[in-house]
Amino acid sequence: MNEKQFRMNTMMVATRNVKEYRETIPVWVNKDDVVLVIGCEWGTTTQIIAAHCREVIGTDISPECVQRARERHPDLRFEVLDGFDVRAAYNLGKQFTKVYIDISGISGYRSLLDVISLLNMYATVFRPEAIIVKSGALKHFAAHCIAWRSDS
Ligand SMILES: C[S@@+](CC[C@H](N)C(=O)[O-])C[C@H]1O[C@@H](n2cnc3c(N)ncnc32)[C@H](O)[C@@H]1O
Repeated sequence: MNEKQFRMNTMMVATRNVKEYRETIPVWVNKDDVVLVIGCEWGTTTQIIAAHCREVIGTDISPECVQRARERHPDLRFEVLDGFDVRAAYNLGKQFTKVYIDISGISGYRSLLDVISLLNMYATVFRPEAIIVKSGALKHFAAHCIAWRSDS
């Protein structure tokens, strides 16, 4: 292995549904975290995260969702953002330590490679400690992976 080669240290946490997605918050989010939420819809999960961290920004591709989130949670920051546009996320100007991703259309098994490529982009650009994603496909895939360790 080339010592200069970039190797990702970000932990990926795959959840199957919104119940599991939100269950991770008290476990993975702490008071020093700056959190990016991708696919915030009306801001419900973003509000729960806000109670556990230093700062959170909720984002969604839908301007209508962002407007509704702002109306419901005027004390929180929401922005319109396509989660696949990592450059736009970078331009928010924050060093995110945790990223939460729940975007419609990436839950099916055929979307597994899209999910992995999205996680890889965020892990490379922000180097967060963890990315928590709602993806049954990734959870199933991860449950069938073993990182082999020799006994020696
Ligand atoms: C199931 S909802 C998320 C609900 C949220 N996790 C919660 O608990 O409140 C999925 C959201 O993903 C958004 N979305 C879909 N494609 C997106 C994309 N490319 N970038 C950002 N958001 C996207 C949709 O507009 C929708 O609001």
